[in-house]
Amino acid sequence: MKIALGSDHGGLELKELIKDHLEKKGFELKDFGTDSQDSCDYPDFALPVSEAVVKGEFDRGILICGTGIGISIAANKVPGVRCATVSDCFSAKATRQHNDSNILALGGRVVGPGLALEIVDIWIATAFEGGRHQKRIDKIADLEKKYC
Ligand code: RB5
Repeated sequence: MKIALGSDHGGLELKELIKDHLEKKGFELKDFGTDSQDSCDYPDFALPVSEAVVKGEFDRGILICGTGIGISIAANKVPGVRCATVSDCFSAKATRQHNDSNILALGGRVVGPGLALEIVDIWIATAFEGGRHQKRIDKIADLEKKYC
């Protein structure tokens, strides 16, 4: 599985931890930045990760900002992105099973490192259930067609 990573300064530390964790597990990764603690704007990192995922260059994306919220709002503006901000293991599993989320957003100032890595592992390992959930995903795609 190929995974695209991105963060702002508020998510840098957690991004580096996740990158190290996933590299050790053998995933193919690309880090779209940021690379420094200097203040920056989360949409600038949400966009390239989102585009890379929607184009099929990567299977999934992981985005991190201070809360996980701003960067997920930005990512969800890109048609085809289903980005979920998650801070518990139940939601990590459910958003894959039910929403087929293709990008995970985390808050570097919200979740501790141990929980964050557990969320990442669950989110990566869980499959979409399809079935009744597919028609709901299709309705989201219809919304995108209407407004984008
Ligand atoms: C940056 O200070 C902070 O606003 C950002 O990382 C994020 O939390 C926004 O949603």
